[in-house]
Parts: sequence; structure tokens; C-alpha cells
Amino acid sequence: MDFALTEEQQMIRDAARDFAQNEIAKVAAHHDETGEFPHETIKKMGQLGFMGIEVPEEYGGAGLDSLSNVLMLEEIDAVDAAHGTITSVLGTLFCEPILRFGTEAQKQKYVVPVAGGQKLGAYSLTEPASGSDAGNMRSRAVRDGDEYIINGTKSWVTNGPVADFVVLFTVTNPEAKHRGITAFIIDTDRPGFQAGRKENKLGIRASATSELYFEDYRCPVENRLGEEGQGFKIAMAILDSGRVGVAAQALGIARAAYEASVKYARERQAFGGPIGQFQGIQWKIADMKTRIEAARLLVYRAAMAKEAAKQTGARITTEAAMAKLFASETAMFCAHQAVQIHAGMGYSKEMPVERYFRDAKITEIYEGTSEIQRMVIARNELQLR
Ligand code: CAA
Repeated sequence: MDFALTEEQQMIRDAARDFAQNEIAKVAAHHDETGEFPHETIKKMGQLGFMGIEVPEEYGGAGLDSLSNVLMLEEIDAVDAAHGTITSVLGTLFCEPILRFGTEAQKQKYVVPVAGGQKLGAYSLTEPASGSDAGNMRSRAVRDGDEYIINGTKSWVTNGPVADFVVLFTVTNPEAKHRGITAFIIDTDRPGFQAGRKENKLGIRASATSELYFEDYRCPVENRLGEEGQGFKIAMAILDSGRVGVAAQALGIARAAYEASVKYARERQAFGGPIGQFQGIQWKIADMKTRIEAARLLVYRAAMAKEAAKQTGARITTEAAMAKLFASETAMFCAHQAVQIHAGMGYSKEMPVERYFRDAKITEIYEGTSEIQRMVIARNELQLR
């Protein structure tokens, strides 16, 4: 495998690093503390093209490859994971299902403004009674002439309170179980839609998460995404891509925790020298560095598999799940070690290390928990059914 980056890939990585360090770093702690959505920085990121890295140029994106997207996400997430979450949901979970399964009119109407940063989108699969068991949802869409009438409650929707549009998965045929799920594109300004209150979360606090309520929401047939009954497969295929993004996010958080730890271990004095001279600290640094490099290989490999799949249509389920599983557990490990190395300072909001610790946890939970990733990997290996 050749991971030598092209000039274009280096450029996008450097541009994302500059933006994150110059623009996001100065507002990250404020948005984490207040939970306010960072409209201003997100808008600028849209204008700079970060939401549409993989979106083709004819739909307002940069038309770059999956590795470029991963490089960009790592840089944003190394400074602030909340900005990374918002970016990943817009660029991948919202734009990609429409690009892959939508009509030309849907791409023009919904992808172009989101890729350009003028509008915000969300992806809504989970419900209060169906998280990991995503196929077991209860919300319903019933066809009525040229419209579907949608009723039900969705939950844990990233960008839910701020989204202009939502890619929604709901049931059109309850008897068919997961084969009765259909995808729709929702305009949130139509009657019958309401976003719930913002969740008060442990981490990624600046990303807005909420329930969504549908009460006799009338969705035009032309807003159906793909065919009736195709929704579950669309949801799963897009989550494979999304998981590569979460893996890149975890890599960014892990790297930030590691870099802060190296700096602190060189500067902080105890017993007559820097704490980095002690083996107890050295072993932590060595383990963090090794796991980060191993995670990077899995993340880059998954991104390259995703890129190749654009031509072949192959599933990248295992590659994505392994990258997310290992990188998210690496992020949690590194953030944990970083707090320990920083000791009292790691427990204080004076430094971002405690934020990395809180933010890292979500990468083991959303877009499929670590338990679900292990199940997915093992099922694909065992092929028992
Ligand atoms: N790509 C394409 N098709 C897929 C697929 C994939 N990755 N995974 C499964 N399928 C297909 C299967 O081939 C099967 O097809 P058939 O109907 O032809 O048989 C069908 O989907 C059902 O598959 P399974 O029998 O494997 O389904 P299951 O019900 O046993 O469970 C699961 C599958 C892997 C557990 C799945 O439910 C899952 O991934 N759960 C986790 C959900 C998740 O990640 N939720 C996060 C939501 S997003 C979020 O976090 C919030 C946010 O805003 C970011």
C-alpha cells in the first residue's frame, strides 16, 4: 500500500489544519461550554469547500477522493470534534445518499446548497425504541396520492435542531420488516415537522442533537429517495461511509491528546526533571504513539477501499467497521492517558485535554457502537447465514 500523499491531498490537509488552528481553536472552548451551535465557523467551512470534499464539482463540491476527506476530518477533529461531527454529517451522511441514490433534481435541490455551506442537512435513522436494532423502527409513511403522510418520532439526530433538510428513514410496509423501510428527503420548513429540544450531552457539545417529530407531515413523492423498501440498504451503505469519517475523527482526537501529552511530558517538572524522563510516562507515550499509527493505517486503508468502491460498487463494511472500532478505542485510550499524564491540569477546563476525553467517548457510540462494529466484522467473517 502506498500512502504517499498527492500534492492535492497535502493541500487539502494543510488548508484544513490552518483553518482549524486559526479559526476553530479560538472558539472551540466557548461553544463546548455554552453548547451554542457554531454557525459562523461552519458557514465559513462550507464556503471553503470542506462540506463537499467528495461531492462532484457539478454539484458544488471539490470532487476529491475519500482519502482527502479523511485527511481534512482528522485536522478539524484534532482541534474540535464538534466541528468534525457537523462536517461529517453534512458531507457524508446527508450528501452521499442523495448523490448515490437520488434523482438529478434531488441532487441539484439538496446537495448543492449543503455542499456549498448555505444550508444544513441531517441523517435520521434512530428512534427512541430502535438504536442498534435499526431495522426495528416504528415511524410510518403512508402513501396518499402524490404524497406520503409521515408520523413518528426520531431520536439522536445530529444537526436535528438546525437542519434545513433531513434524509429520513421510515417504514412504508410494516409486514416486510427491514425490507419495508424507505428513505425520504424532508424539508423541515413544511407543516408537520418539529425538532425537539437540544440534548445536553457529555461531549461534542457544540453539535446540536435532538429528537424529530413528524405529525401528518406530507412529503411529496418526488422526495422519496430510491425505491420503496430500499431504505434499510441505503442507510447501511451510507453508515459504512460514515464510519470511515468517525474513524478519522477518532484519529484526530487521539492525535490531539497525544501531542498535548508529549508537550506536557517535556515541560512539566517533578523530582528534578521533566516528567517524560520517568518510565511510567514513557510507556504511556509509546503505547499512544503505536496505537495511533496502527489506527492511521486502518483509517487510510478504509478510505482507499471507499474510493475503489466508487468504481466497483463493492461493500466496505468490514474495512469501515475495523477502522472505526480500532480508532475509536484508540481515541478513548489516548484521551484517558492524556488526562492521567496531565493529572490535575488534565481535569481542569484550563486545558482542552478534558474536552478530548469527553469528546472521544462518542466515537465508540454513534454510527454503531463498538459492540455493533464487532458484530458486523465477525458476521462478515463467519458468514453463518
Ligand atoms: N450495506 C448494504 N446492505 C447491507 C449492509 C451494508 N453495510 N448491512 C446490511 N445490509 C443488508 C443485508 O444484506 C440484508 O439484506 P437482505 O434484505 O437482502 O437480506 C439487510 O441489509 C439486513 O441485514 P442484517 O440481517 O445484517 O440486519 P440486522 O437487522 O441483523 O442488523 C446491523 C444489522 C448491522 C446490526 C444494523 O442494524 C446496524 O448497523 N445497527 C447500528 C445502527 C447504527 O449505526 N446507528 C447509528 C445511526 S446514525 C447516528 O449515530 C446519529 C447521527 O446523527 C450521526
